[in-house]
Amino acid sequence: MVSSGAAQACLLVLLCSGSAMAKMSRWERVLQAGADATVSQAPAVAPAAAVDSGPLGAMAPAPAPMAGPPPLPKASDALALTNSSLNQLQTLGTYQSDHVAPPSAVLQLLNGSGYQQALGQNPYYAPQSFQYTLPDIFFQLDALGIRQFHFNAWKDPNGTLAAHPAGLKLAGTSNVTLDPKYSYFGYKTFGDPDFDFQSSCVTLETCLQLIQSWSVNHTDHIPITVYLEPREQTLLGNSSSLNQQLASQPGEPQQLAVPYPINGDDLVELQNTVYRVFNQSAIILPGSLLGNDSTLQVATQKAVGGSWPEMETNRGRVLFVMVDSAGKYGDMYRQLFPDLRNATFFVSQPGNGNATIDNSTVFLDYLGPLGGGSVATWTNTSANAAVKKDMARVQAAVRKGFMARVAADWQTVEAREDYHNRSMDAIKAGTHFLQTSFPNVAQLPKFAYSVLGSSNATYTNYTVSLPLRLGGSFNAGRCNPQTSAGIVANETASGCGSAADNALLAPAPGPATAVSA
Ligand SMILES: *[C@@H]1O[C@H](CO)[C@@H](O)[C@H](O)[C@H]1NC(C)=O
Ligand SMILES: *[C@@H]1O[C@H](CO)[C@@H](O)[C@H](O)[C@H]1NC(C)=O
Ligand SMILES: *[C@@H]1O[C@H](CO)[C@@H](O)[C@H](O)[C@H]1NC(C)=O
Ligand SMILES: *[C@@H]1O[C@H](CO)[C@@H](O)[C@H](O)[C@H]1NC(C)=O
Ligand SMILES: *[C@@H]1O[C@H](CO)[C@@H](O)[C@H](O)[C@H]1NC(C)=O
Ligand SMILES: *[C@@H]1O[C@H](CO)[C@@H](O)[C@H](O)[C@H]1NC(C)=O
Ligand SMILES: *[C@@H]1O[C@H](CO)[C@@H](O)[C@H](O)[C@H]1NC(C)=O
Ligand SMILES: *[C@@H]1O[C@H](CO)[C@@H](O)[C@H](O)[C@H]1NC(C)=O
Ligand SMILES: *[C@@H]1O[C@H](CO)[C@@H](O)[C@H](O)[C@H]1NC(C)=O
Ligand SMILES: *[C@@H]1O[C@H](CO)[C@@H](O)[C@H](O)[C@H]1NC(C)=O
Ligand SMILES: *[C@@H]1O[C@H](CO)[C@@H](O)[C@H](O)[C@H]1NC(C)=O
Ligand SMILES: *[C@@H]1O[C@H](CO)[C@@H](O)[C@H](O)[C@H]1NC(C)=O
Repeated sequence: MVSSGAAQACLLVLLCSGSAMAKMSRWERVLQAGADATVSQAPAVAPAAAVDSGPLGAMAPAPAPMAGPPPLPKASDALALTNSSLNQLQTLGTYQSDHVAPPSAVLQLLNGSGYQQALGQNPYYAPQSFQYTLPDIFFQLDALGIRQFHFNAWKDPNGTLAAHPAGLKLAGTSNVTLDPKYSYFGYKTFGDPDFDFQSSCVTLETCLQLIQSWSVNHTDHIPITVYLEPREQTLLGNSSSLNQQLASQPGEPQQLAVPYPINGDDLVELQNTVYRVFNQSAIILPGSLLGNDSTLQVATQKAVGGSWPEMETNRGRVLFVMVDSAGKYGDMYRQLFPDLRNATFFVSQPGNGNATIDNSTVFLDYLGPLGGGSVATWTNTSANAAVKKDMARVQAAVRKGFMARVAADWQTVEAREDYHNRSMDAIKAGTHFLQTSFPNVAQLPKFAYSVLGSSNATYTNYTVSLPLRLGGSFNAGRCNPQTSAGIVANETASGCGSAADNALLAPAPGPATAVSA
C-alpha cells in the first residue's frame, strides 16, 4: 500500500541518503547547485491554517490561493536565448491546468467502499488523488513561470454533459449553483463530468482566452505549449446500480453522464475553437517546421539532417499539441491533414508504450503511474528502477530530437509520498516539459497544496520547480541539459548552445531502445 509507513520511511531514507556528490557529473552538480539556490530563496512556510480540522474538514477542497497572493517575482522570459532553438529549452508545465478539487461531499462519496471497489481499489483513484487545486492561469504564467499547459477536451454540443453532475446528486448536495459556463455548448475541460467537474475556466475557449490575453501583453515570452487531450471516457463508465439510484430520485440527472464520442469532424471543431481565440499568426504550425521535408521527424532530427527552428522567431507565440494516448485521434487527424502539413496541431504519442511512433510525431509523452501502476509493490527500489527505466527512454528520445513531456507526479501519488526522484531525474534526462500538479509551492500559501489524508489532514512539502541558473533570477525557461551543449547554469549571449558547441554534442548514446521511429 502506498501510504504505508514503511514505504514512506524507505523513500525518505533514500532521499536523504547518499552524498554521492563526488560521483556527480558536472551537470548533476549544476542541478544540485540550482536546487539549493531555489531552496534558499524560498520564503518561510506559511502556517497551514486550513489543515487542522476533523474528517469532514480534512476532505474539504483545497482553497485556491487567489484571495490575496503575496507580491511575487514575475517570471522572466528574458533569457539570452538568441541563438537557441526550440528544443533547447526546458520549462515547467501543469497537468489539467484548470483543475479545482471536487467539493468535499463528492470526495467523501468517492471514499465509499462501493466506489473504491468500482475504481479497482486503485491508489490512483483514492479520494486524495483528486485533491489538488491549481492557481488560475494568469498566476501560473506570471508567478510560477508555467509555459506548458494541458487541458482536457470533452465534446459538449448542447451544454448538457456536466450541467447537473451526478456526483452532487448522489452526495445529496444538488442545491449547489454551478458556474453558468457548464451549460454553454462547446468543449469542456474538467477531469470527469460527474465527479471531478470543477475547473477554474470550465470551457476550453475560456481557458484559451486567458492564455491569449496574457500572451498579447507579453510579446517576447518564450513559446507557450498547450496540450489538448480529447476525452470520451468517464471515471465510472456506465454503472447500472448508480443509474438506478439516480433514476429512483427526482431531479437531474437521471443517469451518469454519457460522453460524446469524438470523430474527425470534432477534431476540426477543436481547431475552430482555437481559432476563435488565436490568430493563425500567433500559432507555431507544423507546416512551418516541415517546409519541404518529407516528414516532421526528418525536419527536426539531426541524424536525418533536420533541426528545430530558432527561439527568436517564435517568441510570443503558442504551439498546440493534440494528445493521442491510445493511437486513435492521431490517425483521425492525419486523415484530414496528411503528414500534418496543413494542420494546426502537432500530435503527441506515448513514448513509454509499444506503439509505433508515426513519422509525423515529434512530441512524446511519458505520463501515467510510475512503473505502469504497480504502486502496491512500490518500494524505494522498484520506484527508482521504474524511474531509471523511464528516464533512459526520455534521454534517448530527447537526444534523437524528440520533444518530451514527462509527468513529475500522477494523481498526487508522488506528492503523498514526497517522492522527488521522478522529477529530478526527468530534469537530468532533458525533458522539455516537466509537468506537475504541484508547481513551485514555495511561491504559494502552503495550504493550497495540502495533500489531505483520510483521517487527520496531512501534507507534504512536495513541490516541483526547475533549478535556477547559477546566480540567476526566476526564469520561465532554462537550457536543456541534453540538447544545449551542457550550457545549463550560465547561458551566455549565444544562448543555450552555439552551433559550434552543439556540434560537439555526442550523437545519441546508449541503446536507442525506446524510440521505434
Ligand atoms: C441537442 O439538443 C437538440 C434540441 O434539444 C436535440 O435535437 C439534439 O439531438 C441534441 N444533440 C445532442 C448531440 O444531444
Ligand atoms: C445545500 O444543502 C446542504 C444540505 O442540506 C446545506 O447544508 C447547504 O447549506 C445547502 N447549500 C446551499 C447553497 O443552499
Ligand atoms: C494587458 O494590458 C492591459 C493594458 O496594460 C491591461 O489593462 C490588462 O489587464 C492586461 N491583461 C493581462 C491579461 O495581463
Ligand atoms: C448503460 O447500460 C445499460 C444496461 O446495460 C444500457 O441499457 C444503456 O444503453 C447503457 N448506456 C450507455 C450510455 O451506454
Ligand atoms: C495544403 O494547403 C494548400 C493551400 O491551401 C493546398 O494547396 C495543399 O494542397 C494542401 N496540402 C495538403 C497536403 O493538404
Ligand atoms: C509492451 O510490450 C511488453 C512485451 O510485450 C509488455 O510486457 C508491456 O506490458 C507492453 N507495454 C505497454 C505499455 O503496452
Ligand atoms: C510516413 O508514414 C506514413 C504512414 O503513417 C507513410 O504513408 C509515409 O510514406 C511515411 N513517409 C515517409 C517519408 O516515410
Ligand atoms: C475514507 O475511507 C477510509 C476507509 O474506509 C476511512 O478510514 C476514512 O476515514 C475515510 N475518510 C473519510 C474522509 O471519510
Ligand atoms: C488527529 O488530530 C487530533 C487533534 O489534533 C489528535 O488528537 C489525534 O491523535 C490525531 N489522530 C491521528 C490518527 O493522528
Ligand atoms: C515541511 O517543511 C517545513 C519547513 O522546512 C518543516 O518544518 C516540516 O517538517 C516539513 N513537513 C514535512 C511533512 O516534511
Ligand atoms: C558566463 O559566461 C560568460 C561568457 O563565457 C563568462 O564571461 C562569465 O564569466 C560566465 N559566468 C559564470 C558565473 O560562470
Ligand atoms: C549566434 O551564433 C553565431 C554563430 O555561432 C554568432 O556569430 C553570433 O554572434 C551569435 N549571436 C549572438 C547574439 O550571440
